[in-house]
Amino acid sequence: MTVKDRHADASPNPGAPDTNDEQLQRIWNKVVGRRAFLRQAGLASAVAVPASGILASSAAAKARIHRANDPTDGDFAILRFLCAAEIIESDLWEQYAGFGGQAGSPERPNDGQNPFYVSALQNLDGDMPQYISDNTDDEESHQMFINGYLMSKGQPPVSLEPFRNLPPSPATGGGGKNVLTNLQSLNVDTSWYLRYRAETNPDFGAMFGQAVTINNQPVIPVSDKETPPGDTVDSPAPDKSAAQQRIQAIANSAGFHFAMIEQGGSSLYTTMALKVTSLEVLRIVVAIGGVETNHFSLWHDKAGNAVADPLAGVTDPKTGTTFPNLNTGSEATQTNLILPEPCEFIPGLPACSVVRPTIDDLAGARAAVRGLTKDGLFTNQSDAFFHFINRLAREADEAEREIG
Ligand SMILES: [Fe+2]
Ligand SMILES: [Fe+2]
Repeated sequence: MTVKDRHADASPNPGAPDTNDEQLQRIWNKVVGRRAFLRQAGLASAVAVPASGILASSAAAKARIHRANDPTDGDFAILRFLCAAEIIESDLWEQYAGFGGQAGSPERPNDGQNPFYVSALQNLDGDMPQYISDNTDDEESHQMFINGYLMSKGQPPVSLEPFRNLPPSPATGGGGKNVLTNLQSLNVDTSWYLRYRAETNPDFGAMFGQAVTINNQPVIPVSDKETPPGDTVDSPAPDKSAAQQRIQAIANSAGFHFAMIEQGGSSLYTTMALKVTSLEVLRIVVAIGGVETNHFSLWHDKAGNAVADPLAGVTDPKTGTTFPNLNTGSEATQTNLILPEPCEFIPGLPACSVVRPTIDDLAGARAAVRGLTKDGLFTNQSDAFFHFINRLAREADEAEREIG
């Protein structure tokens, strides 16, 4: 029997899949039914409940469900900013995938074009190229979905195409098309590494330094001359040629940047969820946000391999960026402590293992733009770009949950 047959069957089948509306209707009916019963219990001895009253209450319930799903202007503002953030994520991940994704995949035929970079990434984990391609797929699906949702509600889609004016890296794998984001010289914020190992929470003022100092550092190959794409760096030991040290430092920096981007997404989505009104939009924000956290956890693990034996000790001969061994006996930096330490969360209650930060000032839309700008991701972007992204961010931050 197919799903269609089951729906055609006159007898109710509790195993048959419901639509979202039907599920919501059933949940709401239970709530309304319980309330109606309590209300009516006080009247039952005196009067019978007229059928018209029941019908009216059912219509009111339907109207309330409809309203519970209807996005507010604030919800649309949140989705617009998140869509822009996903377009930015897609752009940077597409660059990573072009150089270091999984080569030979029919779905993504242009991925993994730089074998030297791929071999360096594989010193962090043999599956890095596949993970990079998959993360890229996810970001593309996020932006396509959110724009699809906006359009389904009569809203214009978000586009950053007018700002796709930055030249790509000329190294093999750069693809030749202009990009939105700069990966050729970044200041990668690595404080997330210490933050998620701490029992304190930035939402209450805790500050964290850098686990590794990564400044003015490319995270993708920038020149075939200095890192010949046909070369390889098979062994993680640091006694290698200048080109091998350089490509390994570039790959290690990328490893830290992957986690930086995705932990930012985890905080941003959690913070935005607290402002959403519509149940349907809340479902979207929470469900996509969970995948950002999933990504972060994966990259957190891989970045740790850059600062543990046998790979630790790499120094970029050009920028001086160094990846020391962080297994020094302190839990503050121990590389396999990748799951979030319980930290202060709600005052007066026990510590809890949570996403942090999740307050506007540190993890809202404007904070996200500030963080990415400081990172160098938007270096050489136009004033018009900053004007546009800052407006979207301000509107998203100003959204408020409208539940009476
Ligand atoms: Fe995403
Ligand atoms: Fe992401």
